[in-house]
Amino acid sequence: MSEKLAIEGGISLEGELSVQGSKNSALPILAAAAVTGGSSIIKKCPKLTDVDAAVRILEYLGCKAARTGDTLIVDSSGMCRSDIPKKLMHEMRSSIVFLGAILARFGNAVVSTPGGCEIGLRPIDIHLSALEALGAEITELHGRLYCSCRDGLRGTKITLSFPSVGATENIMLAAVTAKGTTTIINAAREPEIIDLASFLNGCGARISGSGEGTITIDGVQKLDNYEHTVIPDRIVASTYMAAAAVTGGRLKLDNVVVEHLYPVLSAYEKAGCLITPSHGSLEIKAPRRLGGIGAVRTMPYPGFPTDSQAAAMVMASLARGTSVIIENIFENRFKHVGELVRMGAKIMVENIVAVVEGVERLHGVEVEASDLRGGAALVLAGLAAEGETTVGGVHHIDRGCQSFENNLRLLGAKIKRS
Ligand code: EPZ
Repeated sequence: MSEKLAIEGGISLEGELSVQGSKNSALPILAAAAVTGGSSIIKKCPKLTDVDAAVRILEYLGCKAARTGDTLIVDSSGMCRSDIPKKLMHEMRSSIVFLGAILARFGNAVVSTPGGCEIGLRPIDIHLSALEALGAEITELHGRLYCSCRDGLRGTKITLSFPSVGATENIMLAAVTAKGTTTIINAAREPEIIDLASFLNGCGARISGSGEGTITIDGVQKLDNYEHTVIPDRIVASTYMAAAAVTGGRLKLDNVVVEHLYPVLSAYEKAGCLITPSHGSLEIKAPRRLGGIGAVRTMPYPGFPTDSQAAAMVMASLARGTSVIIENIFENRFKHVGELVRMGAKIMVENIVAVVEGVERLHGVEVEASDLRGGAALVLAGLAAEGETTVGGVHHIDRGCQSFENNLRLLGAKIKRS
């Protein structure tokens, strides 16, 4: 049975925390480690169940992985398989980035379609058509994708119909050792894309333009060993900031890249939080009562991140006045709403729009997490609520937040796992 977190709410969180490395950077970098055929030292690699799932894939493929503290060393010299069983593919949706990596390494791959998930259908059509443009022949049979490229991958111009993060990563991974030049137009601009490019370039790749709408990849023959430090997790940082905000607390966060947080800072400031950034850290001081966050629209970077939407909704739930949240990225990312309403929040959802009328207080009840960010948001609501909140489905939170309850406890929260 899944574990639960029991939270006694109503305590202002105060203190200092160092933010973990980014999950969404670490996962494609682990796939990239498979392309190198050598040894990759990955520092600040977060300890998460999703990272464990990626390691299981690497080991299945014949790579070796060893962790010491926050450092993961991957040796892909012994990689000998080009297939990933369905069970491993299904452990984590982003396993699909291994497709580009395996194709780059071996020129063929057999993987499963990752299927839909709790936040939406999440099709992979953009990934597949881009890999086909690079020369892969892909056949789907009973949910298995058989991919091969008889003449090797060849660079080309690929225009994405949407700046998909995962598709941009898959193309970068596949194109890095392809013949010729690949240009990605309408590429995702997320910081995690820049981090992947900086890892690959450190290994000897020739990628330019990451972080911009057009990325150019000049194929190289081989990649080398490299040591890389994963960027701080901007989503986890925004989650802890919201924890301080909803409890009327005060928090200093170390290991942050303040610019990566610009898309969320204006909403937090609008709510009345005082934010003092400095190099590599940031302080947040919450007002006695939060103000509304106005209208927040989730967008590809540098817009407001969909992954911070649920935490922002908890802030809006406790704020003065009415806020509006529009979820433009995933069609099913309001699953936390029902649970927040059971805690006393006043939220009305119509398709992709949530209208949140702030209430003075939430009250503790038993709630159930159904996805990672929504689950973390329920914990935030519990921290602010009167009485005890029990959050079930904690395995969702463990996918992306390292030592979540321990960190919250360090800030004064009364929270325990059972
Ligand atoms: C990444 O998912 C992140 N995951 C997500 O974080 C994040 O929410 C998302 O980017 C958006 O920022 C990782 O980095 C591991 P997309 P990804 O491809 O790559 C549609 C979290 O909680 N689409 O940019 O899957 C798709 O359905 C997770 O940490 C297609 O239609 O996101 C969605 O509506 C959740 N066809 C939109 O595009 C495709 O082929 C954005 O998806 C690909 C995507």
